[in-house]
Amino acid sequence: MTGKRVLITGVSRGLGQGLVRVHLEEGWEVLGVGRSEPPEITNQDGFSFLKLDLSQLGSIGNAVGEFTAMHGRPSRVFLNAGVLGEIQDLRDTDLAELQSILDVNVWANKELLDALCSQPEKPNQVIAISSGASVNGHRGWGGYAISKAALNMLVQLYAAEVPETHFVSLAPGLVDTAMQDYMYSEPDVRKFPSVQRLRDARYTDAMPEPVEAARRIVARLDDLRQYSSGSFVDIRKMK
Ligand SMILES: NC(=O)c1ccc[n+]([C@@H]2O[C@H](COP(=O)([O-])OP(=O)(O)OC[C@H]3O[C@@H](n4cnc5c(N)ncnc54)[C@H](OP(=O)(O)O)[C@@H]3O)[C@@H](O)[C@H]2O)c1
Repeated sequence: MTGKRVLITGVSRGLGQGLVRVHLEEGWEVLGVGRSEPPEITNQDGFSFLKLDLSQLGSIGNAVGEFTAMHGRPSRVFLNAGVLGEIQDLRDTDLAELQSILDVNVWANKELLDALCSQPEKPNQVIAISSGASVNGHRGWGGYAISKAALNMLVQLYAAEVPETHFVSLAPGLVDTAMQDYMYSEPDVRKFPSVQRLRDARYTDAMPEPVEAARRIVARLDDLRQYSSGSFVDIRKMK
């Protein structure tokens, strides 16, 4: 295992693609995992890609195990891939939709962690990209909020099981991605007032582009180690 090999999920766009770019710039070897490759990065030196649909539970562990056996075990892992679902009341959301959000945002990460942490060469640091929604409980955030709260606990439990690895769930702050395109145009802010704060933040420093957001996260990775393994940390509240 080299000290500079990172595995990142959900690399086709958004924060995941930003994290890929920043790590490549800093000379890291990057193992990307997701349904589609990030355009323009595909053929770059140092980047390898595993095409994998993280909603297909049951197949993830073996695929990631083989991929990392071939390309080398990562010292750093970002569990970044995620889905938002609709902003709507829970009573209007059927169980199948809630389950599909939890499959990607929670259970896929269990399979990934089992594959990565069952090896003798475990990652040094795992950062699960969570959200302020995991603790806020604002109306309309339904399946997404439940899934990120469950992700926080999943990470806390793995931290207790795997003391060799430092884990955090990290709320990355607002990032100008496809998720924000949806927030900007779709939900009814009269019914779901918390969405207005996101709209107000767009095109300001409070909602950076993905590469800038990734730089801010990577710059704080050493500081994250000062928190107990398994903690939930909101980057906006870090000293
Ligand atoms: N944007 C924000 O303001 C914000 C705030 C707090 C937390 N977050 C979190 O940050 C992370 C990244 O979000 P983002 O804003 O960058 O969103 P995004 O632009 O929608 O990107 C999501 C990424 O996840 C991948 N993904 C989704 N479903 C997948 C599946 N079934 N299998 C494999 N990959 C899948 C997508 O790949 P495909 O191309 O395959 O769809 C894409 O690469 C998420 O965990 C999100 O919850 C974002």
